Amino acid sequence: MIPFGTTRDGEETHRFTLQGGPGSRVELSDYGATLVRWFAPDRRGRSEDVVLGFDSVAGYVGHHSYFGATVGRYGNRIAQGRFSLDGKVHVLAANNQPGGIPCHLHGGRSGFDKRLWAADEQTVDGRPAVRFRLRSPEGDEGYPGTLDVDVTYSIGNDGALRIDYEATTDRATPINLTNHSYFNLVGEGHESVLGHIVTIQASRYLPVSAGMIPTGKLAPVDDTPFDFRAPARIGDRIEHRNEQLRLSEGYDHTFVLEPRPTSEPTLAATVYEPISGRLLEVFTTEPGVQFYTGNFLDGTSVGKSGRPYPRRSGFCLETQHFPDSPHQPAFPSTILRPGMMFRSTTIYRLGIR
Ligand code: BGC
Repeated sequence: MIPFGTTRDGEETHRFTLQGGPGSRVELSDYGATLVRWFAPDRRGRSEDVVLGFDSVAGYVGHHSYFGATVGRYGNRIAQGRFSLDGKVHVLAANNQPGGIPCHLHGGRSGFDKRLWAADEQTVDGRPAVRFRLRSPEGDEGYPGTLDVDVTYSIGNDGALRIDYEATTDRATPINLTNHSYFNLVGEGHESVLGHIVTIQASRYLPVSAGMIPTGKLAPVDDTPFDFRAPARIGDRIEHRNEQLRLSEGYDHTFVLEPRPTSEPTLAATVYEPISGRLLEVFTTEPGVQFYTGNFLDGTSVGKSGRPYPRRSGFCLETQHFPDSPHQPAFPSTILRPGMMFRSTTIYRLGIR
């Protein structure tokens, strides 16, 4: 554990290193329980950092791209920044307004990505691990109940980074935890991900309205640029004249994973990058994955290696429940009640082909 800088509130943050197999190393911070760096070898054995981020906490404070962060209480959007639960209306921060329509995004103004988590270095099933813990108090960003959250990152020597989430509450609350890493499998700081080849195990996706809230429909991907059942280059169809791609300026949609529910992480998506030969596989217990192509990055953030992060220089595969579930009774429930244990697991595995 080494210092990672001091926040504006004078909190001292730290960085932790987990050593994986040959050429594989992960760095994490207790600020936002964030994945800061992930070095992984290419097909010639050259190791590079393949996630976007900053080299100290200063870059993350006040920044709103959620690079590598743990996102909560609720990943993605809740319409109008309010919901009702058990007959009571709860008002959340309306911290985002796509198309001028206000909503709540990624847990609010100061979500879990902006908190200092307690951290313990551990070994889990023989794998080096860091366990982060956070208590989110009653009323936090408008949410009901005191929520205790645990996020454990562990790395194997097979290139797999496993993220286990657990949470309990003392009052019913919505919860939707995810990791918001942006990958560029050529190496972070490379200008584009359009050449990456993506497969997503989904025959349906969630179309959104002008405010980027799901319409409630689970639409078939057939004959749309959202059909990634067979491998496709990100760049091949992203500029298609498609109303959904236009609304979000690229891919920024939830794909419906099947079969679900599952208590064991199953394959959700793969991404292959032909220049480096790197292959990312994503496994999860979650019912959805948000495929986001960094449409709102604009080159103003300068990353760890001193290079800017322009539009589409990273992609995210955020495993999660569906956005706006508190307003959509037909979506899988995101309500955690006292006495229940929230559990979720996602594995990102980096290899070569
Ligand atoms: C959302 C985007 C949002 C981005 C913020 C993604 O998870 O889907 O709409 O702009 O996070 O970095």
